[in-house]
Amino acid sequence: MDPDRLLPCNAMAEVARVLFGREDVRRRVAELGRTITGDYVGREPVFVTVLKGGAMFLADLMRAVHLPVEPHFMAISRYGDAEESLGRVQILLDVDIDLTGRDVILVEDIVDTGLTSRYLLSVLRSRGAATVELCTLLDKTARRIVPVQPRYAGFECPDAFVVGYGLDFQERYRNLADILEVFDQGALRADPDLLQSLVAPAA
Ligand code: IMP
Ligand code: MG
Repeated sequence: MDPDRLLPCNAMAEVARVLFGREDVRRRVAELGRTITGDYVGREPVFVTVLKGGAMFLADLMRAVHLPVEPHFMAISRYGDAEESLGRVQILLDVDIDLTGRDVILVEDIVDTGLTSRYLLSVLRSRGAATVELCTLLDKTARRIVPVQPRYAGFECPDAFVVGYGLDFQERYRNLADILEVFDQGALRADPDLLQSLVAPAA
């Protein structure tokens, strides 16, 4: 294993490893920003992000896009599992502008089964937007149940549970700068704060 990806103490190294470090994330977000800037020249895209996981990615991505960009937020609650509910969610917070004729980009932290994104894309399309595209930081294609294909994807994500940079385990680790792959979820369930010492300012 790449030694740079090993975590500092044995207890942690047995539970998780760094999948995408903060530098990988910074570089990739900058690239996505450049691509979106090029694709939307002369337009003013609306970025719609789903709280809370997408907030960190949105904040960095919009600063890498050199166009007028409007950020908007949605909050949803799932009816049980995404799979059980077929991705139908209750919308707790909605976009408060008229999307008619706008170029909308749904900004997601991760697309897993695809059920949530497919549902939200259909909601946004039903609002009369001129275009609706999907931009996700992580794309877990191996877990896909419905065919959702992001126009923009930061990284292909292995079929694993990941935390950091917006992604949580029991609301923890969203403020971790790196993205970790957790291979022992049992250990984290037993001690949800096990990886907490990694939440430290960038060196
Ligand atoms: P979906 O399965 O594509 O509908 O994804 C639903 C949601 O599950 C995502 O927006 C994330 O909030 C969450 N999720 C999926 N995979 C992971 C993961 O590996 N870590 C943390 N959250 C995840
Ligand atoms: Mg979550």
